Amino acid sequence: MGYQDEYARSISDPNGFWMEAAEGIDWVKTPSKALFEENAPLYEWFADGELNACWNAVDRHVEAGHGERLAIIHDSPITGTTHKITYAELQTRVSSLAGALRAKGVEKGDRVIIYMPMVPEALEAMLACARIGAVHSVVFGGFAANELAVRIDDCKPKCIIAASCGLEPGRVVHYKPLLDGAIEMADHKPDFTLIFQREQEVAQLIEGRDFDWHAAQYGIEPAECVPVEGNHPAYILYTSGTTGQPKGVIRHTGGHMVALNWTMRNLYDMNPGEVFWAASDVGWVVGHSYICYGPLTFGCTTVVFEGKPVGTPDAGTFWRVIEDHKVKCLFTAPTAFRAIKREDPTGELVDNYDRSSLESLFLAGERADPDTIEWAQDKLGVPVIDHWWQTETGWAIAGNPLGIEKLPVKIGSPSVAMPGYDVQILDEGGHPVANGELGAIAVKLPLPPGTLPTLWNAEARYRSSYLQQFPGYYETGDAGMIDEDGYLYIMARTDDVINVAGHRLSTGAMEEVLASHPDVAECAVIGVADALKGQMPMGFLCLNAGTQKASEDIVAECVKLVREKIGPVAAFKLATVVQRLPKTRSGKILRGTMVKIADGEEFKMPATIDDPVILDEIGDALKEMGYPR
Ligand code: COA
Ligand code: AMP
Repeated sequence: MGYQDEYARSISDPNGFWMEAAEGIDWVKTPSKALFEENAPLYEWFADGELNACWNAVDRHVEAGHGERLAIIHDSPITGTTHKITYAELQTRVSSLAGALRAKGVEKGDRVIIYMPMVPEALEAMLACARIGAVHSVVFGGFAANELAVRIDDCKPKCIIAASCGLEPGRVVHYKPLLDGAIEMADHKPDFTLIFQREQEVAQLIEGRDFDWHAAQYGIEPAECVPVEGNHPAYILYTSGTTGQPKGVIRHTGGHMVALNWTMRNLYDMNPGEVFWAASDVGWVVGHSYICYGPLTFGCTTVVFEGKPVGTPDAGTFWRVIEDHKVKCLFTAPTAFRAIKREDPTGELVDNYDRSSLESLFLAGERADPDTIEWAQDKLGVPVIDHWWQTETGWAIAGNPLGIEKLPVKIGSPSVAMPGYDVQILDEGGHPVANGELGAIAVKLPLPPGTLPTLWNAEARYRSSYLQQFPGYYETGDAGMIDEDGYLYIMARTDDVINVAGHRLSTGAMEEVLASHPDVAECAVIGVADALKGQMPMGFLCLNAGTQKASEDIVAECVKLVREKIGPVAAFKLATVVQRLPKTRSGKILRGTMVKIADGEEFKMPATIDDPVILDEIGDALKEMGYPR
């Protein structure tokens, strides 16, 4: 069957389609049906089945005689080490860690925060939670203590698992002091922490609260897999929304397993035993789905890479990893390729390595610009597939399903809707628009398995953020169009979310931090185009009347404040002081117009603008900063 038939069947017969896909998963109790629509517009999948995610990702492969197959290859150009772990070893390590968690009182349904860098132990911590039915919430290492504290208070973990440190090129990230600070700041206190001591920095443990990763496992009875219901939360992953309060995206176990397992063959064209490499981070959704659960559930080998595309040690690192580990499919963000291309524009380093194992490159996380795609196609000589998805969906909404049928690539488009996603373009009134016309991208409910059923502790916010604007649809927050061949084009976010180096950030959250500076009366943050990172945040500050301090000092303090409160990942480095912000007569800041001026694009003077002169002032301030570039 080709793509068209598969897709049509997924929409006309979702139960049949997904029950068949569910056969790829081991169930303790087979679900009676796929879709549960009793609480529509809240939907669930495989709710009455029982399974265990760790069993599916680890034990079943050992059971099937593949214990000696590599599960994880940890490649760290930062420490200069490589470490390979077989499925049998992974089973031993995970069941022992799960035993230690259980012995300290962690049970099914308890939350566990994981704050770790790109080491295999991060995956082991996720899998150990899954093994005993605990709900993990991984927090990206580039976030500051304050962000960690917000997540601690929202999901109220019984335990936090952390590493002593992370390693950025030329800098040790001191996780433990960040963790201590976050626990101090948070109202909720975890019962205990488990600390994985890395040799690069051994952290001080607080007696009675902090336990050593290895010592806690000493003499422990390994834990068996605990069956959970299909709609049991496998994890919570926080992502940026419009405000400083992140959204806790929930992933239910059954749909999560079924969908990811299905994509490994049908989207990425993988077979068990082959090597899949998602060069991302476990702190992001790509890391959850395609560093950890997807490849392992399907019986592939996953590469855990602790390094950067450039500078560790050079722009040839990705090709070296492909050669060393015989990577078949590489998945990364376009930014990584822009960084490589900038260092090695002619691709000189590419041919120093044997890339014969590589069959495809998948890009996601931000818009893939045609230059980057063409460069990658030219240098690597494999299909370069842009695919579009979100933390909320957990897997691709649109892509090119190489394992079903390789569709023609149209550069600039992430191709077509994946099975289960009825993608439509709507006008402001919620009516579908004609092909080729721009509008809000929405997905007709229900979303397929593996996507978010709701938000943690925030069902009202789930409804108002995603379901309210277009009843009967999930609003993606992206705008775009569909062409006459059904190919989708993603143009821009319709909210205050920006994408910096493939990292999703909230300008609203940054504005909240800037507004807390005592000299700032009012502010706006926008995302301006950046040749490397796609977008960069830029702040405009209006100061309180009578402020004595020099503007440069306030700007420097604001840059520092965002780094302290949100973290280095915000990459907030550009800010300027202005007298006034451009607004509509009703007081809404015209951020979209500011973006257009910064990017040197043409814009229509908004009809509702209060004082057009302010736009000239903004243009002057931007010119001083060297914008448009
Ligand atoms: N822990 C702590 N700090 C981190 C971090 C982590 N896991 N990840 C990033 N940071 C820090 C960086 O060190 C940097 O700090 P600095 O301001 O002191 O230099 C800051 O956060 C900004 O990071 P980033 O925007 O990634 O910029 P960079 O200059 O370090 O790297 C790239 C640029 C392009 C090499 C890098 O962004 C990259 O490899 N991107 C690939 C895309 C990707 O992984 N996307 C994830 C979703 S698929
Ligand atoms: P995240 O939740 O971090 O995965 O970010 C999701 C957002 O990133 C989407 O809503 C899009 O705005 C953007 N995005 C992800 N993939 C793509 C893509 N292939 N093309 C354009 N934008 C993308």
